[in-house]
Parts: sequence; structure tokens; C-alpha cells
Amino acid sequence: MNIVLTGSIGNIGKPLTEELVKKGHTVIVISSNAERTAAIENIGAKAAIGSMFDADFLTATFKGADIVYLMETMEAAGDLFDKSINFISSISKIGEAYKIAVEQSGVKKIVHLSSIGAHTDQGTGIIVFHHHVENILKQLPEDVAIKFIRPVGIYFNMFSFIRTIKNKGSIISNWGGDQKEPWVSPLDIADVIAEEIEKPFEGRTVRYVASDEVSPNEIAKALGEAIGQPDLKWKVIPDEELFQNWLNIGFNEQVARGFVETQASQGSGVLYEDYNKNKPVLGKVKLADFAKDFAEAYRV
Ligand SMILES: NC(=O)c1ccc[n+]([C@@H]2O[C@H](COP(=O)([O-])OP(=O)(O)OC[C@H]3O[C@@H](n4cnc5c(N)ncnc54)[C@H](OP(=O)(O)O)[C@@H]3O)[C@@H](O)[C@H]2O)c1
Repeated sequence: MNIVLTGSIGNIGKPLTEELVKKGHTVIVISSNAERTAAIENIGAKAAIGSMFDADFLTATFKGADIVYLMETMEAAGDLFDKSINFISSISKIGEAYKIAVEQSGVKKIVHLSSIGAHTDQGTGIIVFHHHVENILKQLPEDVAIKFIRPVGIYFNMFSFIRTIKNKGSIISNWGGDQKEPWVSPLDIADVIAEEIEKPFEGRTVRYVASDEVSPNEIAKALGEAIGQPDLKWKVIPDEELFQNWLNIGFNEQVARGFVETQASQGSGVLYEDYNKNKPVLGKVKLADFAKDFAEAYRV
């Protein structure tokens, strides 16, 4: 099949491109950076250089595709420290560009990388932009089939713990405790997307992706042991204190407030309401596997 992928050869895009090329598909990878061309071609795909905000570029690239994989990223909207950016409304513009390009190119099958929490616009913080993009795509004509893929929190979010472990000796966040919650590897997400690309498309469907279910305290233990600090603790501070810490670092206020709210919804379980009703079979990459990557990143 002819498949167009957004998201370049990022964390999910690279293994996804490799898998689809290996299966014999013709793959075009969209990147915003012309210097990425050689790396994309080395995998056996073609590069299309342009922006996910550019409906004309997307339309031309999507023409003739059997399936397009669409993702939106905060990185595309700008620097998280740039205080002039409204990330939520900017990312809706990516959704609008995708909608126009799908309609104008005539593509009938979409796999959309959404997120845990996209079932609601209430109380999930910054990631509400995924809910908005799902809704924009749902406005497409009925004959466009869409698979909404909703990964849970990705393990690599935990790299942000490195700073406080090094500076303050512990993981510090606004949620914690012994309640298990789901985490996922980009490799398991890529596997699920590759699988869904080959399965029949009909109407609008939702599939959650998760690799392991572990509690914050279990994470502290696993990561602590991996970095040679078996007594590492996960400390909980109030939402407002974390918000102020992040403003002090210089984060955009919408981003700081938004991530505090997202994490608060992890702690309260609001984020997982719909996931808990539609639990997937867990993937193969476990926290113990990620702990090795974490230890490597910690040493740098
Ligand atoms: N973190 C989580 O817990 C979580 C949970 C659920 C869902 N998600 C979703 O997962 C996504 C992350 O996927 P990922 O890790 O594969 O992403 P990634 O590694 O950050 O790759 C995204 C790529 O998009 C490209 N890009 C940036 N701006 C662009 C633009 N204007 N036009 C075209 N391409 C552009 C960049 O590559 P080039 O430099 O080559 O252009 C970038 O590397 C998030 O964005 C979010 O939507 C995340």
C-alpha cells in the first residue's frame, strides 16, 4: 500500500517506518527538516519536506495514498519556553490543515495518533488539544474511516525526573503513591499502528495502547535501582508549588498550568476514566526494560 506518515522519524515514526518498509509498503515520511532526507531514504522510505500546518503541501503529499498516519506535536507549535504561544489553539490549526488535506486529496483511511484523555475536554490539562483534533477530524465526511490511537503516558516523560534526582535527590511531582497506572513504549505504539494499518477500516474506532501498569512508588524503586540509588523516593508537592517551580524555570504559563493539571488528573484517575473501561492487552516493553534506558540517560 501507499502510506504517508507525519511525525518524521521521531520516537514512534522511526520504528513505524522501518516496520512498514519491511512489510513491503511504499512509505512517504513528512519531515519539516530537509536535512532529515538522507536518514529517511536510508530506511527505504521517501521524504516529503514541509510543514504539518501547510494544507496545500499536505494535500499534494497525501494524493494517491491509501492510508495516512496523522500526529500533532507541541514541538510544531513552538518552544515550550516561548510565552507568546497559545499551544492549544495552535495545535487545532494542525488539525484543520489535516482535515482540509484529507478532503482535498480524497484519502479515505486515517490512523490518528491521539492520546489518553482525549475522551473529554474537562480536567485533563494541556493534552486537551488531542480532544480538539479528534473532534476536528470527526467532522470529515462519513466515508472517511478513522482509527483513533490513544497511547497512555510514554515512558520517555520520565526523563524529566533526571533534573530533580540530580539536584534534589528525589523524584518530585504533584502526584504519586501506590496506585498503579499505565505507561507505554513508543515501540509498542509503533507496533499497534503498523497492525492497525493492515487491518480493515470501518467508521470511527478508538484503541488504547499501554505496555505496563505500575505505581509511582514502584517507578521510583525501579529507576532508583537502575541508577544505583535503591532508596530513591517519589515525593509529592502541592499543584501550586509545582506550578511556581515551572514558572521559575521559565515555562510558558499555559504549558506549566496545563502539565500540572494533566499530572493532577493522573493522580485523581480522571485521565484514566475511559481507559479503565476499554483496557488494551499490554505490550511487550516493560518498566524494567525502560529503566535500563533511563540509567543510560542519567549517566550522561
Ligand atoms: N508524551 C506522552 O506521554 C504522550 C502520550 C500520548 C500521546 N502522545 C503523542 O505522542 C507524540 C509523540 O510522538 P513521537 O515521540 O513520535 O514524536 P517526536 O519524536 O517528537 O517526533 C515528531 C516529529 O515531528 C516533526 N515535526 C515537528 N514540527 C513539524 C512541523 N511543523 N511539520 C512537520 N513535521 C514536524 C519533527 O521531525 P522533523 O524535525 O524531521 O520535522 C519531530 O521530530 C506527541 O506529540 C503526542 O501527540 C504523547
